[in-house]
Amino acid sequence: MSHVRPRLTVLGTGYLGATHAICMAVLGFEVLALDTDEAKVRALESGRVPFHEPGLPELLRKALDSGRLRFTTDPAEVGAFGDVHFLCTGTPQLPGSDGADLRQVDAAVTALAPHLTRRCVVVGKSTVPVGTAERLSGLVRQLAPAGADVEVAWNPEFLREGHAIEDTLKPSRLVLGVASSWAEEQLRAAYRPLLEAGVPVLVTDLATSELVKVAANSFLATKISFINAMAEVCEAAGADVTDLAEALAYDDRIGGRFLKPGLGFGGGCLPKDIRAFAHRAEELGCGPAVSFLHDVDAINQRRRQRVVDLVREAAGGRLAGARVCALGAAFKPCSDDVRDAPALDVARRLHEEGADVVVFDPQAIENARRTHPELAYAGSVAEAAEGADVVVLLTEWEHFRALDARWLGRLVTTRRLVDSRHALDPAVWRTAGWSYHAPGRPA
Ligand code: UDX
Repeated sequence: MSHVRPRLTVLGTGYLGATHAICMAVLGFEVLALDTDEAKVRALESGRVPFHEPGLPELLRKALDSGRLRFTTDPAEVGAFGDVHFLCTGTPQLPGSDGADLRQVDAAVTALAPHLTRRCVVVGKSTVPVGTAERLSGLVRQLAPAGADVEVAWNPEFLREGHAIEDTLKPSRLVLGVASSWAEEQLRAAYRPLLEAGVPVLVTDLATSELVKVAANSFLATKISFINAMAEVCEAAGADVTDLAEALAYDDRIGGRFLKPGLGFGGGCLPKDIRAFAHRAEELGCGPAVSFLHDVDAINQRRRQRVVDLVREAAGGRLAGARVCALGAAFKPCSDDVRDAPALDVARRLHEEGADVVVFDPQAIENARRTHPELAYAGSVAEAAEGADVVVLLTEWEHFRALDARWLGRLVTTRRLVDSRHALDPAVWRTAGWSYHAPGRPA
């Protein structure tokens, strides 16, 4: 194996895996990416990214043109090709439990291991309960013809949707969880271009590297729920949480990032990661150490109901029959991801209370229609707003921030706005004749 330029494989071409495979090929590595979903493999090899991520289609084209990126559904080909195998499969929440569903990770390792006939490293990037790497090491030793010559390492991914390329090519840090200096060498070779560019690297044991990821996401979720808890207090006290957050942010020990109050967090990571972490801590007998994460989750869920209540108040106390224009479906802007999306959860609750909800999102309508077929969708803001009694902004897309208050005012029946993300300027909207409501702010 060449330590200078190991041959890389990526198992799982979802959000994380596709981005990783594309970026590593652009950095100059030979990359073979595997997925069990043939349609996904076909789409990617024909230059189509099956999800919305700014800049990724262009980068995929560049990687394919270089001839260094290929896709396959055959684990034997992957085993024969790779020196460093990156595991990038999903770890969603288990149905009916707070724990993580590791079936995709286990299936990927089980499919690959019988084809590992020489010394190599299997590197997990997925977010997993602490102890998984250790368990997978045993599994690999048992199934791989190369036995103990195959090492398992962990290298958590911190990429944010919407910033996936930047976070992969210029990560804030690289965490290398390894059980030997040989595995460390292989990972350093696989990340040489980033290390040469000065990206900080931390070498840890396997368990610590697994914990770094869930600890980071737990901290971020806690920060968001902290400011949303302050929003609840502001509502009771008649104070303004946006001013409060701004004043806190000037203290650089606190900092303003992830301190934006509003509808709270969603997506495929933060919600399920804090639940799986609390669940794993209970298994380890240290549940009380992170039991506050249950509160973090509960505060986050309460924000959704609070926004529903604000829409009801704006509609004059009754949702039944009210025509509501819901702006946003994605869990955050610049993404078409609707997994655990607060926006869709609010739209669903409004619909269940009898409101006539019409949803518009610049990118996520197709995905939203699949998960929430009971809701009505529009092809534009104008269509969603036509005849509305209340407009509720649920995802802070730039498209919505740029809306003209007077133009929108001419489309709706009544100028009532609930700005759940504090994305719009209340003074501008009030001047244009709108009533403006937002969580944590005086009416
Ligand atoms: C997150 C982590 O940031 C990333 O490091 C990890 O690898 C994966 O999980 P992501 O899920 O893409 O990334 O979204 P992120 O930008 O973290 O936002 C998460 C949620 O928090 C969104 O719903 C967002 O709207 C919400 N949020 C974020 C707030 O409500 N307030 C804030 O101040 C920041």
